[in-house]
Amino acid sequence: MALPVDVVVMAAGKGTRMKSQRPKVLHRLGGRALAQHVIDCAARLSARSVVVITGHGAAQVETGLQAPAQTALRFVRQEPQLGTGHAVQQAVPVMADDGLTLVLSGDVPLTRPETLQALIDLSAGRHLALLTLDMPDPTGYGRVVRDEAGAVKAIVEHKDASDAQRAITEIYSGIMAVPTARLRAWLARLDNRNAQGEYYLTDVVKFAVADGETVLAHRIDDAVQVAGVNSPQQLAELERAYQLRLANDLMVQGVRLADPTRFDVRGDLVCGQDVDIDVNCVFEGRVELGDGVRIGANCVIANARIEAGAVIHPFTHIDGERAGVRVGPGALVGPFARLRPGADLGAEVHIGNFVEVKNSTLAAGAKANHLAYLGDATVGERVNYGAGSITANYDGANKHRTVIEADVHVGSNCVLVAPVTIGAGGTVGAGSTISKSTEAGALSVSRARQVSIPGWQRPQKTKKAP
Ligand code: UD1
Ligand code: MG
Repeated sequence: MALPVDVVVMAAGKGTRMKSQRPKVLHRLGGRALAQHVIDCAARLSARSVVVITGHGAAQVETGLQAPAQTALRFVRQEPQLGTGHAVQQAVPVMADDGLTLVLSGDVPLTRPETLQALIDLSAGRHLALLTLDMPDPTGYGRVVRDEAGAVKAIVEHKDASDAQRAITEIYSGIMAVPTARLRAWLARLDNRNAQGEYYLTDVVKFAVADGETVLAHRIDDAVQVAGVNSPQQLAELERAYQLRLANDLMVQGVRLADPTRFDVRGDLVCGQDVDIDVNCVFEGRVELGDGVRIGANCVIANARIEAGAVIHPFTHIDGERAGVRVGPGALVGPFARLRPGADLGAEVHIGNFVEVKNSTLAAGAKANHLAYLGDATVGERVNYGAGSITANYDGANKHRTVIEADVHVGSNCVLVAPVTIGAGGTVGAGSTISKSTEAGALSVSRARQVSIPGWQRPQKTKKAP
């Protein structure tokens, strides 16, 4: 019988070894808080609710985590922290008796939903089911004690274990599934008479066995799935494991990564077919890469949609923030380009080196190839925007728009002082400062006429008197 799943996430611990002001479970992995990974994983199991137990840095943790769609997120405080059993005791009063409780830890971010689903299935809404693992060096972990027939009898914490028990290599991962009504009854029987003077959640195994129940174990061999973060070193290790996992998933879909160990996704990367990504690229927020997109080495791309066939050359920085960035089909961007929020490039647009584009629309075929700034501009089809030209969009108080109509040619080193419109097909002579709108088809030049004085003698240095 499938019961509704309610998840308890233990997140009250201090995380002393992180040596950080920030609560441990808010440290980021793949751009997301550790505990957010756990909550999001619960949502993928279609959990009915998630209860997060907070303690150290509770207020910060409570504001730092978001409820996923369709899942109720609640916080319960544990003050003081008297052990994992005491932690779950704080949660059960707000939980319904008709569910299955899945206990997770806020600092164990990489458990796969399929693994948890297997544990839930094993529990079958009736049994206490433990997620366990064989570890070559089980020091510090709770050991899974079985009888001669292999039935689980108890979990004994390392500090309470006999030498014989310490030789057991099967450890308890910290993750269990248990019918809530049974859990509630067993938690009421906990005491803290043990080596650490704590209320151990793991003692529920002993009570289940005493009640004549069969305790089941789902044994996995992938240690990363149950690895916790206690130090910056472990955080970095799991970050690499996570990135490798994402890289492999993308390669399975056909994405070609030059080096899966030099690749970072801190959000969601969605790729079409025949996407090539060179080394050292970082993707943040939501990034979509269309069919045939190529990303050169050392690009940082955040909140952007790069459409089919576009090429992003090396060292390009794209950050759409909230407004987003779109790079149209077949566009060429970079090297060393910067696209900021609201940059919207049409098909076949070219943005070259040291060109910055912000809150501007460039229609199909427009080009700005060198050293230029386009801010708050509307640029028509096939416009050529010369090297060194800028839109002066800010008067010190307000932003104004520049409109460059189709087929305009803006020469090098021009300043277009907004608000201003350059009429279709017009030409702006190099070095012009344009502060009045121009007519279609006109040549507009605003610079001093050139004067040449033949045979001009440069002044000579006067000799100092001795
Ligand atoms: C726990 C298990 C151990 C298991 C190990 C796996 C118990 C008694 N032992 O040990 O069998 O092998 O995890 O990693 O459960 N927490 C609270 N409130 C508390 C204490 C802890 O919220 O009062 C949270 C911690 O923040 C952490 C989690 O519970 O997220 C586990 O606590 P931790 O102290 O790491 O447990 P271990 O002693 O490692
Ligand atoms: Mg631990």
